[in-house]
Amino acid sequence: MKVLVVGSGGREHALVHRLGQSPSVTQVHALPGNDGMKSHALCLAWDWRDTDRLIEYCLRTEIELVVIGPEDPLVSGLADQLRDRGLLVVGPGADAAQLEGSKIFAKQFMNEAGIPTAKFHIVDSLESCMSAAQHFTSPYVLKADGLCAGKGVVICPTEDELRAAATDFFDKRIFGDAGGKALLEQFTPGWELSYLVLTNGEEFQPLPIAQDHKRLQNGDRGPNTGGMGAVAPLKLDTALQERLDQEIVRPTLVTLQRRALPYRGFIFFGLMMTPQGPSLLEFNCRLGDPETQVVLPLIEGDFGMILKELSTGRLRPLQIRSMHSACVVMAAPGYPAAPEKDLVIEGELTSATDSSYFLAAGVRRVDGHWVTAGGRVLGAVGLGSSREEALSKAYAQAKQVRWRGLQMREDIGGGTR
Ligand code: GLY
Repeated sequence: MKVLVVGSGGREHALVHRLGQSPSVTQVHALPGNDGMKSHALCLAWDWRDTDRLIEYCLRTEIELVVIGPEDPLVSGLADQLRDRGLLVVGPGADAAQLEGSKIFAKQFMNEAGIPTAKFHIVDSLESCMSAAQHFTSPYVLKADGLCAGKGVVICPTEDELRAAATDFFDKRIFGDAGGKALLEQFTPGWELSYLVLTNGEEFQPLPIAQDHKRLQNGDRGPNTGGMGAVAPLKLDTALQERLDQEIVRPTLVTLQRRALPYRGFIFFGLMMTPQGPSLLEFNCRLGDPETQVVLPLIEGDFGMILKELSTGRLRPLQIRSMHSACVVMAAPGYPAAPEKDLVIEGELTSATDSSYFLAAGVRRVDGHWVTAGGRVLGAVGLGSSREEALSKAYAQAKQVRWRGLQMREDIGGGTR
């Protein structure tokens, strides 16, 4: 079958790469993809927002399955539009994608479902924010309601910093309407993990638990990023895994059903593990980046067929390989604030083995050279029988390329359970 992946980043390259290993998949198309994944996918140089063209293309070229990677098209209702035309899709419709599209929707959903999460107030002005702050202790967390390309969460150690953030949100409108309403939330201390499941809205299959490193620099210093690297699996004891399923995942599915919100796709639970137990920070209605790069290689079997069946509502038990994976993100200078583009990438970008390879996030091919074309440029992936082996392969892979000002953490996997 032919499969089309919507999106252009490292997560989408991981999907394209894994789908390409599936016996049932004859060809992978990517919309728009990126130059670095062209050896694995036929990349289409137009935008998913041109939905008439996308639907016409899928029908004409007999695409049997569409897998939507990023949150924007999901929240915008692309999955609904494709399903209305009879196409098979992995990804929720717009109503269920509100789990990620609106932080306020998500919090109210968590409360209805009885899912443990930090207490919150809904605020929409500097005054309401500072007045609500009297009910919280510092540090304060201010979260824009809408999608802000991963930048809408600010942790404020003091009241003055909260005032500055609230001024940015409500007076300067730095996030436009997406930040016109926000959640003021109690900060939750603990350690974070990424729990992703595949679900048909009634049953779920867990994917191996991953841990992402969100800060730019070694030792969890520097600004927050989309993620500088990840490892999987994390080994949780059985009782803790059972709590995640009973306290978080099952109530989510029950509440989706009670609200009559169909769901065929991935749910990503961003969790903080506290001394009292798991606390849900956020839902994502998609796979994580770079979690996908470490989780997909651990899924056994014909991934294309697993997803096709899911798109029709059938969920088969997943077999998980007994191995480890690591992904080290290689970023451009200036990332995350203002990444430099068009820097020449030297070295062997196409070098790959079965257990180490690059996944491209922000690269372009110009006049026979590879150049940087985004903040996160490449993910170097390593697989092995232990976490140490996976990390050592990922770092050896990373050494094969370089560019001026390359940023990369040296401690991915460190401090991880
Ligand atoms: N790595 C975090 C995310 O994908 O949202």
